[in-house]
Amino acid sequence: MLKKFNQFFHQQLNRIDMSFTPFIANVNGKRLQIMQATDDNIPDLLVLEEQVYSGRTPWNKFSFERELEKRHNCLYLVVYYESMLVAFIGARFTPEETHITNIAVAPAFQNMHIGRYLMQLIIDRACENDSDCVSLEVRVDNEIAQKLYRSLGFEGTFIRKNYYHDTHTDAMNMVLWLKPHQIKRKKFTF
Ligand SMILES: CC(C)(COP(=O)(O)OP(=O)(O)OC[C@H]1O[C@@H](n2cnc3c(N)ncnc32)[C@H](O)[C@@H]1OP(=O)(O)O)[C@@H](O)C(=O)NCCC(=O)NCCS
Repeated sequence: MLKKFNQFFHQQLNRIDMSFTPFIANVNGKRLQIMQATDDNIPDLLVLEEQVYSGRTPWNKFSFERELEKRHNCLYLVVYYESMLVAFIGARFTPEETHITNIAVAPAFQNMHIGRYLMQLIIDRACENDSDCVSLEVRVDNEIAQKLYRSLGFEGTFIRKNYYHDTHTDAMNMVLWLKPHQIKRKKFTF
């Protein structure tokens, strides 16, 4: 039975499109290069994290390496302006759900709609892959990020206590439902 389920799950996983063609986007007058992250980007990713989280790196070199390896179900995108990494976003895909694992925009480039643009890219990919929903965790005190997510249609579902080890802050799980008829069934299964 378990073997059959595993076979079915992997067949479904193989249907998820993880390909990504790099492209140039114009966001708020800025010419941005958007491409799939590789290990070569990790030093830039760590610098960006330090800028965004006041010297801390919630994701270290090892976490990035581990995630970037999972090319069969993870999509990590980096955004360069000229030769500078200014943003990134990561997401993990299963046959049912797309989970955004990480997003950050360099302080000097925040509030220019780059975050919104990246979120929309992942939401579009989730729709193409026929996901039921897009989910994420956000610190309960991160009002700016929550405002962005709510404006895209995400709603808070439940709290994960002490989710962030560094500060012991609680996380709010937020979900954007892509298939309205499934809302009731999904909500009761949490
Ligand atoms: C959260 C984050 C990714 C948003 O990216 P961004 O590019 O700055 O956001 P956008 O410019 O796309 O703004 C989208 C919305 O967020 C809100 N917002 C963004 N910056 C804001 C600010 N400084 N003050 C108030 N609202 C703000 C606004 O509602 C805005 O929409 P609007 O301008 O149409 O009203 C970015 O602020 C960031 O990297 N923060 C630090 C890391 C982080 O918190 N990551 C999220 C982890 S869950």
